[in-house]
Amino acid sequence: MGQISVNINHKNIAEQIEDRTTLADFLRNTKHLTGTHIACELGVCGSCTVLVNDEPVRSCITLALAVSGKAVRTIEDFDDDQAMKVIRECFSEAHGLQCGFCTPGMLITVRDIILRGKCQNQEQIRNELAGNLCRCTGYMGIVKATELAFERLKDADHSV
Ligand code: FES
Ligand code: FES
Repeated sequence: MGQISVNINHKNIAEQIEDRTTLADFLRNTKHLTGTHIACELGVCGSCTVLVNDEPVRSCITLALAVSGKAVRTIEDFDDDQAMKVIRECFSEAHGLQCGFCTPGMLITVRDIILRGKCQNQEQIRNELAGNLCRCTGYMGIVKATELAFERLKDADHSV
């Protein structure tokens, strides 16, 4: 067992956990933050992406104890985030999702690449999204939604 002290979605948490607990399992099973989806559990598909100190991280291959002292944000934390609000609207408009299983990880990644300005053309968007797999959409809608959101957000102050 080890002691984790972490800030999750702006709440400080300190508790004892099993050393081998992954961040994904800790979020889902202990904190009931089930918006973080688990698919491959191998670090390949991006479904489990969360932010750790504002950087996208695959929570299925990250030990929970490794994020002790850091700030974690899951998809549940973005309801008041202006950039995410626009991205969600664009995903809806451009049909960027079907079953929605990949969507939480996809939204967190898209928000990150938009805030970094890595959306200059479709090729760049596809490269940046290469670590997030979707079995349903064929990606056209996701790329379109990302372009649309980047266009709407690029001149706005989207500091969060
Ligand atoms: S479930 Fe974590 S990368 Fe696939
Ligand atoms: S919308 Fe179903 S996996 Fe992406």
